[in-house]
Amino acid sequence: MKIAIIGTGHVGLITGVCFAELGNEVTCIDADEVKIQNLKKGLLPIYEPGLQELLAKNTVNTGHMSQGLISLRLKSPFYPIKFTTSIKDGTKDAIVIFICVGTPPKSSGEADLSAVENVTMQIAESMSDYKLVVEKSTVPVRTGIRIKQLMEQRAKTKFDVASNPEFLREGNAIYDFMHPDRIVIGVESERAKNILLELYQPIKAPIVVTDIESAELIKHASNSFLATKISFINAVALICEKTGANIEQVAQGIGLDHRIGKDFLNAGIGFGGFCFPKDLRAFRRIAEKIGTDFNLLKEVENINEEMKKRFISKIEDSLWNLKDKVIGVLGLAFKPDTEDMRYAPSIDIIKTLQEEGAKIKVYDPQAMNVAKSILKDVEYCSNPYQVAEGSDCLCILTEWDEFKELDLIKIKKLLKSPIIIDGRNIFSKQEMQKMGFKYKSIGR
Ligand code: UDX
Repeated sequence: MKIAIIGTGHVGLITGVCFAELGNEVTCIDADEVKIQNLKKGLLPIYEPGLQELLAKNTVNTGHMSQGLISLRLKSPFYPIKFTTSIKDGTKDAIVIFICVGTPPKSSGEADLSAVENVTMQIAESMSDYKLVVEKSTVPVRTGIRIKQLMEQRAKTKFDVASNPEFLREGNAIYDFMHPDRIVIGVESERAKNILLELYQPIKAPIVVTDIESAELIKHASNSFLATKISFINAVALICEKTGANIEQVAQGIGLDHRIGKDFLNAGIGFGGFCFPKDLRAFRRIAEKIGTDFNLLKEVENINEEMKKRFISKIEDSLWNLKDKVIGVLGLAFKPDTEDMRYAPSIDIIKTLQEEGAKIKVYDPQAMNVAKSILKDVEYCSNPYQVAEGSDCLCILTEWDEFKELDLIKIKKLLKSPIIIDGRNIFSKQEMQKMGFKYKSIGR
């Protein structure tokens, strides 16, 4: 099927490359000329495991491709992904147009939908035949109605609007696209439904076919529930710390109940990333705007903030005054397997430590370049041992596998004092104490 993707960020690029991999003719569109030029050269604007190979396999330049990959392409009809900055050109031949532009939070927490409105206008004005316009960006419920109204004013031909929210986790996005727990499509016509069912036919997963508003709400409700689950286990972790219970045992004990489920019960310094914080605030604003309130989500945010404060207190308990102390930090990204630091707990934690006069040394396997534009006056190290050298304590903020393999005997020798404060419970408490570390972690 001929499809167009507008917006080549995490959602748009993964969606475009994966649909191309499934044999569709895909055109990816973005207003950012530089981004488009780079994509034409096979250069990615984001880091996502497996994306580089998938992009190479589905674009023309066979430069860095194995003979096997090239021959594989020759077998099946091969449609190289096209990249353009023009919505008019890029959507001309497409029957489905996915809106994947950013919907960042305004200061009020409400989603900024100006980009959605802008591209909808351009789609409507350039249409010369039927199009199915699909909102994939995370949008507040009833955005679909807005898109429809705007299209009705501007479009000269028939069209349909649909909602098809994504549930991609950064670092697992390609896997999540190809192996989703479910596909959600919100449609208002048989034609729209049949087009999307055909498009998603190669993916074996339950498909929820519903109306547009329900599909939009499923997205916000999903992310808000997941964030709630994390804050719940973090609140229980704080009780464990006061009562000598072990949060990992508690999480295992509750998670075996199939109605709770074991995932997303890892206590830590809280959730970050662009989605959870943004979607929680957006969902609360949506509730307020329709005259209800969703105070539970305010408490979910409060607990998330509290976890960072409690982590700082653990450092103060260990070091007493922080002024002029040297604090080593391992992990800056909001979670492993990504360079993304949006709303990463590391940012608030490091800034608070700096306000207390501490000197900070940092290392992260992927996020160092991103960090340099966010964190000032920190010493950027090239490996974990350099961070530990001469530091008064070592903090773990992101659970990269690399940190789980550290030579702790070497780390202990390098530290000024053997203090490790683990924000993601990557080490065994017993092991650390046996090795003579003063070890603090979360909820155990
Ligand atoms: C999330 C949703 O999972 C995904 O479905 C949605 O499309 C986008 O938002 P993402 O933000 O990429 O994905 O990361 P995720 O793996 O969900 O983790 C989010 C945050 O929660 C991270 O900061 C992570 O450290 C934290 N987390 C996750 C916990 O603190 N404990 C857990 O048990 C799981």
